[in-house]
Amino acid sequence: MGEQLRFPDGFAWGAATASYQVEGGVAEGGRGESIWDRFAHTPGTIVGGDTGDVACDHYHRYREDVALMRELGLTHYRFSLAWPRLQPDGTGTLNPAGLDFYSRLVDELLDSGIQPWVTLYHWDLPQALEDAGGWPERDTAHRFADYAARAHAALSDRVQHWTTLNEPWVAAFLGHAEGVHAPGRRDHAAAMRAAHHLLLGHGLAMSEMRAAGAGSSCGITLNLAPVDPATEADRDLARRVDGLLNRQFLDPLLLGHHPADVLDDVADVTGSDHIRDGDERIINAPLDFLGINYYTRQVVTSSDQPRIWRPGDEPSAWPGSADMSPAPRGLPTTEMGWEVDPAGLGELLERLHRDYPAIPLYITENGAAYDDERVDGQVHDRARVDYLRAHFRTAHQAIANGVDLRGYFVWSLLDNFEWAFGFGKRFGLVHVDYDTLTRTPKDSARFYAEVTRSNGLA
Ligand code: FCB
Repeated sequence: MGEQLRFPDGFAWGAATASYQVEGGVAEGGRGESIWDRFAHTPGTIVGGDTGDVACDHYHRYREDVALMRELGLTHYRFSLAWPRLQPDGTGTLNPAGLDFYSRLVDELLDSGIQPWVTLYHWDLPQALEDAGGWPERDTAHRFADYAARAHAALSDRVQHWTTLNEPWVAAFLGHAEGVHAPGRRDHAAAMRAAHHLLLGHGLAMSEMRAAGAGSSCGITLNLAPVDPATEADRDLARRVDGLLNRQFLDPLLLGHHPADVLDDVADVTGSDHIRDGDERIINAPLDFLGINYYTRQVVTSSDQPRIWRPGDEPSAWPGSADMSPAPRGLPTTEMGWEVDPAGLGELLERLHRDYPAIPLYITENGAAYDDERVDGQVHDRARVDYLRAHFRTAHQAIANGVDLRGYFVWSLLDNFEWAFGFGKRFGLVHVDYDTLTRTPKDSARFYAEVTRSNGLA
């Protein structure tokens, strides 16, 4: 089994969820419609026609869920606020019933000795703001900062950790380029503008939260991955994909400028008129931490020249690089079809350490979907335990190599609504029976409880 590994004292061990994936209660407490309600209710968008209408019913069962977190020994719980619960049409004073829900959740966590780690935006934009143009419009960044300021003012007396955005790449490019996420657009110019406005919204929200003087710890979560070429001929493609996925976000946030090569690659798609003087300074607001979501590495190939996507082509998430295809290497995969590659996490952490200014890092998501079966009240998810153990070991090695990694959140606490895949992909440490909403901790939950309690791996 190998030697015992201990993590640094005070290391955060958490689990993560997101509002639309677990809450349900979509028509309760005056909640407004989000782009995910509209999208999921559009025929043909979600496998099996699933929606988040009920999801895990966490809106009603949050006490039971916090009790499960306590069993798991979590020090932190990462969850998101549903913007349309707090601002049903995306503007104005906060909806008291929506705020009350999060306030009760926060109190329940604190009473259980678990630190709340709030994400302000995990993709559920109020539909009213989408109707006004959504993230491709600059005003949405200002609307987001206003919402962030109000939510932070209401909860920062008890919530120390604030994350502005979860995975702006996914929101911008799966939502507006490939169109497989809400709002389901296929417009690569709009996707590039959305990406910039998400970053701008982040920067504006950071300055609002700083101005409040609450001493909060504020940052952002990005989905990052090493990008490797499948063959020598794919080197430039790997540079382009790395630019869109990683550097498009890391460079403005941490270095203060958009990467010139990326702007060049997409110049014929979108131009850069939407990037105004001063925006990069706003986006470059100092971060207290960077959250990293890692699942697998990207290996890419192309049999073509760099190609701009045109309506009628196969959907693509890659502006200026619609020629890109993933190149599987034949490694074992999870139920998502994602290759299990813990070494990719190590390379990613070392790269951040090497290429960017020093900043505390947290893995804010890592985990795996497997085809779990509950038999006699047990779920023997050996593959998930192996996946987590391998990634924890890699994280431990990175810390030993000098990477300033402060915590780890498993995705996810519960099986939940996995976006376009619906309920078919189970990522939870805790199994959810979607007919009865019964929760059953899996073997991985017991494994994780040992990790959190011993602050290490046996
Ligand atoms: C990430 C999302 C999260 C979950 C995992 C599997 O991209 O942030 O909500 O769906 O993937």
